[in-house]
Amino acid sequence: MRIAIVGTGYVGLCTGVGFALRGHTVTCVDRHEDKVSAISAGKSPIYETGLDAALRKSLRAKKLKATTNLADALARAELIFIAVGTPSRPDGSIDLSAVQQACWDIGGQLKTATSPDAGESPAGSGRQARPASKARRTVVVKSTVIPTTTESVVKPMLEQSSGSKAGEAFGLAMNPEFLREGSALEDFLNPDRIVIGSLDPASAAAVKKAYAKFRAPIQLTSLTAAEMIKYASNSLLATKVSFANEVGNLCKALGIDTYEVMAGVGLDRRIGPHFLGAGIGWGGSCFKKDVDALRSQARHLKLPTRLLDAADAVNQRQREHFVSVLESRVGKLKGKRIAVLGLAFKAGTDDTRDSPSLDVISWLEKKKAKIVAYDPQATENTKRIHPEIEYAPTVAAALAGAHAAAILTDWPEFKKLTDADFAPMASKVILEGRRALDRKKVSNVEGICW
Ligand code: UGA
Repeated sequence: MRIAIVGTGYVGLCTGVGFALRGHTVTCVDRHEDKVSAISAGKSPIYETGLDAALRKSLRAKKLKATTNLADALARAELIFIAVGTPSRPDGSIDLSAVQQACWDIGGQLKTATSPDAGESPAGSGRQARPASKARRTVVVKSTVIPTTTESVVKPMLEQSSGSKAGEAFGLAMNPEFLREGSALEDFLNPDRIVIGSLDPASAAAVKKAYAKFRAPIQLTSLTAAEMIKYASNSLLATKVSFANEVGNLCKALGIDTYEVMAGVGLDRRIGPHFLGAGIGWGGSCFKKDVDALRSQARHLKLPTRLLDAADAVNQRQREHFVSVLESRVGKLKGKRIAVLGLAFKAGTDDTRDSPSLDVISWLEKKKAKIVAYDPQATENTKRIHPEIEYAPTVAAALAGAHAAAILTDWPEFKKLTDADFAPMASKVILEGRRALDRKKVSNVEGICW
């Protein structure tokens, strides 16, 4: 199929490259010239496992191209995915301006463009394209949008700018993404499920066709249910982690290994083993944003969200609690050198959005500690938020002379550390927010929940 993807952020680009690997012909479009040039040169603007190689393969096979020209991207596309960002507003609701702009621009193109199976006029031939046939384009919302957005914002905007009706002149669908950073491409290619919400059966069929080569159950839903499936999934995963943290804190106080407990709990097939890992809690660009957006929508509907409020509160508290535990071990933090190992919100990414490390650093600063931070990937991103702290080029440089080490991302390189690596510390206090160290190699390690 011919597919256009509007927006080349991590969802847009992984979706585009993923579809290209599955044999579709993809055009990615973005307003930012620098991103388009990087993609065209085979260099992904974001760090994501395997993405660069897959991008280059797709470019070589002429299955993918990038452009800033929307008309060019949409020419003859059967599916048009909207994959632009929906950032949080201060009240927790999402900012739809990029989605609205994309709808307006796409609608404008739908008005003027020929239909996807209309023939191309050979370059320079002066011949007219074949007249538009009955085939219609389907606009697919991939961006995470709060329930009812596709019907109440996307649809009217597309109809207004195209001057035609959704479900008649063009199809409309909502196809949420469930991609984890660090394994986004792998998740795209091998999903647990594919959710397709649609305005009408023809729109659903058009999107389903794009996933014909995927081996995953396909759930066809309403537009609003598809939107809610995304929010409910992320909110439940976040709640699961907060639950694990609450139990984890209790386990620590009772001298119980919470990981042993959750291994047992997770064996229950009704619960499952995933997202029961206690520690410093969840971060990243999605969980907080989505939990907040759902809470904000509920507030407008005057509905309580006690569980989601608690999931968020437990998560926030864990960051402050980490610093309290550290202080109880090192004594007054003022003037103490604290090595913060790990800045990314999880391993395998350079993303620091809502990373627990950022809050821990702020708490340590409030206590006037001297911070020296190390991360194999996320240093540059952290420097933008915390330019005032010291950054070490290696773990060894961070640990030298430190009064304590705070381990906040479970990078594989931390697993290789041994007692000898911690020997140059001024005092050997090690507190983990993630189970990153190998207990057989490092002694006297304490964790926030263990
Ligand atoms: C999450 C979801 O897992 C994806 O399905 C979804 O598509 C994505 O958000 C999104 O909405 O775009 P992601 O934020 O990349 O993906 O990261 P996760 O792997 O889900 O981890 C989220 C946070 O939870 C991380 O900080 C991680 O360290 C933490 N976590 C995870 C725990 O603290 N304990 C666990 O047991 C699991």
